[in-house]
Amino acid sequence: MRSQRRGFLPLVLVLSLCAGVIAVAEFGGSRANAADDAVADAKTFTVTHICEAQELRALHGDDITIKPDKYHNQPWPSLEACRSHDAAWDEDAPGPQQPIPFSHAHHAGLWQIDCQYCHSGTDRSRAAGVPSVELCMGCHNQFSPLYDELEGIQILKEHWNERKPIEWAQIHRLPEHVKFRHNRHVAAGVECQQCHGPVERLDKLYLVPDTKWWAYGLPTQKLEMGWCIKCHRENEVSQDCLTCHY
Ligand code: HEC
Ligand code: HEC
Ligand code: HEC
Ligand code: HEC
Ligand code: HEC
Repeated sequence: MRSQRRGFLPLVLVLSLCAGVIAVAEFGGSRANAADDAVADAKTFTVTHICEAQELRALHGDDITIKPDKYHNQPWPSLEACRSHDAAWDEDAPGPQQPIPFSHAHHAGLWQIDCQYCHSGTDRSRAAGVPSVELCMGCHNQFSPLYDELEGIQILKEHWNERKPIEWAQIHRLPEHVKFRHNRHVAAGVECQQCHGPVERLDKLYLVPDTKWWAYGLPTQKLEMGWCIKCHRENEVSQDCLTCHY
């Protein structure tokens, strides 16, 4: 190592002189500064989206400079928000494409927002319902402007400004001849997850296609009668045809 270094230095001197640079620059403090500058350059990144910045910080830690300044050391939107946003819009993941990449894993899982805060109908009415744009905005109005770089938030705010509802693609749908009411089930203490699976772990919702490997005993492709009957039998609830049919 040492002999290599000694051999290296004169070469630098020669090169410096050739370039018309005073050799002194190769000794002492200024040399260290030059090295620091090189490191600093390697740690400066220019990005065009907040999520790019969050990915870089996840990779390199906080010890980097991100340009432009508005992206440097921003805590929000979080990396998790960025990733869930993409996962909720993954075309290859099962389930219908929603108009907004809304993630349950993010809202109900990571942020632990109660199911019934958004699906407030479940304990009162037949339908669970999906939340209004107004309810979304109750939170999202207060967030940093950097959230507007997420396409999902842009679409949400467009709907808010134009006062139009979001047309969520429906996933669960029983035929008209079947009676089903959420409130009876919720009041009886049946958990949402017993029927809908681990929603708080899913970025994109879907009807699970196969019950065989599924710990929750979810319905197959559709909500089959046998699934309702099985649970009613286990819980000694009425299995009379007219309980579920008009
Ligand atoms: C109770 C507050 C609250 C409500 C209500 C709420 N959000 Fe969020 N939302 C959050 C928080 C907190 C984050 C993420 C913060 C972070 O980690 O950066 C978030 C993140 C997001 C994101 C980015 C992550 C993702 O899921 O794709 C989108 C898009 C989003 N919300 C859309 C909506 C929509 C649409 C609604 C209404 C159906 C809604 N939010 C309702 C609190 C809320
Ligand atoms: C911040 C609001 C919010 C929270 C909290 C939330 N949801 Fe949702 N939920 C939505 C929105 C918006 C949709 C429609 C988009 C979609 O399907 O992802 C939805 C859709 C659903 C659907 C599918 C509806 C259909 O079309 O069949 C189910 C089932 C569901 N949620 C269950 C739950 C459960 C269980 C929880 C708690 C673990 C929960 N949700 C928490 C906003 C929320
Ligand atoms: C006993 C099973 C069961 C339980 C428990 C249950 N659901 Fe459902 N859920 C269903 C069925 C079945 C449908 C389809 C209803 C229809 O088509 O009329 C549905 C539909 C939905 C929908 C779609 C929109 C709507 O209103 O039809 C949402 C959202 C939903 N459930 C959320 C929830 C939440 C949140 C909970 C917990 C508070 C919950 N569910 C508990 C079986 C259940
Ligand atoms: C995970 C278990 C479970 C599943 C799945 C389930 N149920 Fe139920 N259901 C219950 C329980 C428990 C009650 C009793 C509620 C009570 O005591 O009021 C009930 C009650 C009912 C009632 C009211 C009964 C009455 O006496 O008025 C109807 C109607 C009903 N269920 C329809 C359905 C339909 C339709 C399905 C399938 C789409 C279904 N249930 C799936 C557990 C379940
Ligand atoms: C616990 C609730 C429940 C009870 C009890 C029940 N059903 Fe059903 N039934 C359903 C559901 C849910 C469907 C829709 C399933 C589907 O779409 O495949 C259905 C569908 C049907 C269909 C239509 C099948 C088709 O392919 O469209 C017939 C016929 C039927 N039930 C008859 C009966 C008869 C007869 C009884 C009494 C012996 C009965 N059901 C009891 C929930 C129930």
